Amino acid sequence: MEKIVIIMPTYNESENIGPMIHELFEKEFPRIKNASMHLLVVDDNSPDGTGEIVKEASKKYKNLHLLSGQKQGLGMAYVRGMKYAMKKLSADAVIEMDADFQHPPKFVKPMVEAYLNGADYVIGSRYIPGGSVPKEWAIHRRAISYLGNLFIRFVLLKPRLHDLTTGFRLTKVKGVLDKIELDNLMELKRFAYKVDLLYQSVKNAKKVKEVPLQFAPRTKEASKFSMKEMVSTFKVAIILGIKDKIRFLKFATVGFVGFVVNFLFLRVFRSIGLGEVFVWLMATEMAIISNYTFNNIWTFKEAKISGFVTTAKKFLQFNLTSAGALIIQSVFGPLGVRVVGERYDYLVLAFVVAFMVLPYNYFMYNVFIWKTWKP
Ligand code: GDD
Ligand code: MN
Repeated sequence: MEKIVIIMPTYNESENIGPMIHELFEKEFPRIKNASMHLLVVDDNSPDGTGEIVKEASKKYKNLHLLSGQKQGLGMAYVRGMKYAMKKLSADAVIEMDADFQHPPKFVKPMVEAYLNGADYVIGSRYIPGGSVPKEWAIHRRAISYLGNLFIRFVLLKPRLHDLTTGFRLTKVKGVLDKIELDNLMELKRFAYKVDLLYQSVKNAKKVKEVPLQFAPRTKEASKFSMKEMVSTFKVAIILGIKDKIRFLKFATVGFVGFVVNFLFLRVFRSIGLGEVFVWLMATEMAIISNYTFNNIWTFKEAKISGFVTTAKKFLQFNLTSAGALIIQSVFGPLGVRVVGERYDYLVLAFVVAFMVLPYNYFMYNVFIWKTWKP
């Protein structure tokens, strides 16, 4: 049976945590048939005694766990909880959930069902049909939340997802969570780590599903969210958004350098009197070497390939990929010229390079050579 651990960070939630534990263990968990449900409370030594309440309750519920620590911010609490859930509890999936009933416990079940039906990342979404934000929220608060989400969808190029800042999500461990370097997430002291975690998870996940969440108002204790948290959330989104584009720009620059190298070596080899076919072959290979090297140490430095055997293997693959680009050009070049006429061969070349060769190379590099995308 699948083991699912709800990770619930708490800081001064003494009024909420008791009823929350009760509702989960007495009402919600029994409704979930095909999974073994656990609750892991990550409390940062709340001065109001939240931890003691959990400790007391764990005598009654064997699937209730308490992890106490110093207060280091929300992201750090989650990272601690996730490591513990994976290593100590051998969780198959984890759920991020607030303790203050803003994530009503009745929404756990549909989330688990989506997972059992094959989704490896499930997002509790306020912005799909069936989901909502509290009706108590004033219009400006709704607007900020909605527009903020819209903005993040736009900068992260995630138009198909509707709620990127929700705090209620399920993540499968194998293949998704266990592939993420949790300690390296951005803004771990803040709520903004959530955007980075979502971004990495969506990248790793094979099937992402949004399920409706009716986000409830907080009735007890105070929210820890603030203007600072919001600003850092936008900051993380913008940095992540740019990061992807920066990689593409580096890739394009390396491609241009390769073109120059190709051209220079044509002249060099020709000047030393080599045969013309050989000249082209050698010059092209020089460009390939230049492309491979600079992409490896610059464009894809986070996924840098090293070691003699791996390099040899990858370089061979890289040559095959480059041969593919050559084939694309020699098929679509002549075809294009036939359509628009020889006079416009430079347009055909520009078109084939920009819309076929570049995307092809970028895709092959990301998927097969440096494996930074998982299709
Ligand atoms: N351990 C620990 N340490 N828990 C914390 C900390 C911390 O530093 N800060 C907050 N928490 C806990 C709270 O006790 C609560 O259970 C949960 O994290 C969410 O905190 P809230 O203070 O209730 O946040 P919110 O309701 O304003 O923010 C909600 O919306 C955000 C934006 O959509 C949450 O759902 C966030 O997760 C979400 O990012
Ligand atoms: Mn809250």
